[in-house]
Amino acid sequence: MKEELLKAFMFRHACKLFDEAKKIPDDDLRFILEAGRLSPSSFGLEPWKFIVVRQAELKERLREACFGQAQLTTCSDAVAIAAAIERLHPGSEYVEERFAHYAEHQDVLLWLRKFYSEYYATIDVRLWSITQCHIAAANMMSAAAAVGIDSCPIGGFSPPKAREVLGLDGVKYDVALIVPFGYRVNPQPQKYRQAFGEVVEFR
Ligand SMILES: Cc1cc2nc3c(=O)[nH]c(=O)nc-3n(C[C@H](O)[C@H](O)[C@H](O)COP(=O)(O)O)c2cc1C
Repeated sequence: MKEELLKAFMFRHACKLFDEAKKIPDDDLRFILEAGRLSPSSFGLEPWKFIVVRQAELKERLREACFGQAQLTTCSDAVAIAAAIERLHPGSEYVEERFAHYAEHQDVLLWLRKFYSEYYATIDVRLWSITQCHIAAANMMSAAAAVGIDSCPIGGFSPPKAREVLGLDGVKYDVALIVPFGYRVNPQPQKYRQAFGEVVEFR
């Protein structure tokens, strides 16, 4: 299991060009999206939506919004992760629905509401939401790698253009990250990482 996971982490790289002729089978795509859906989220609020872009015309427009990056048109499917913003405010219908799953007793619910309101007042909600979407993205890329599917996280996009293409207003939802999935054309480049001791500190 450890070996298999490490193999997947080594297999995953920021793929720059996908084989346009190869399409991801539906059950593999569903598996990848499940890895996103099952990701952890703060207060269990699941602040995301996964928009699967597969139409050629939409991919083309997305590519323009991503400074012409070829991954967007050569991939099989691009998953744009939209970060929820507006619906996360304390007391919203959405938050209440999510909290209902966790609150077994009225006192727990009251405590949760109060704690969330206080916490919410201290954070940048847009950033908080986008950060969590990146966790879902990482899980989806790892799941894809485990079944031999390539990906590339795309943070290089013009936010207003990407919003326009995806039909997001930036108030209800904003674009967190776009992840094209498909099959590599070129061999994987060498992986460069800092040494274990440079990035890990035991205290
Ligand atoms: C938030 C984020 C945004 C990124 N944006 C892009 C991008 O727009 N285009 C791209 O080709 N790679 C992008 N990358 C991939 C990184 O460049 C890549 O992961 C890094 O250079 C390490 O290489 P590796 O993933 O192949 O091991 C992004 C990675 C992250 C985490």
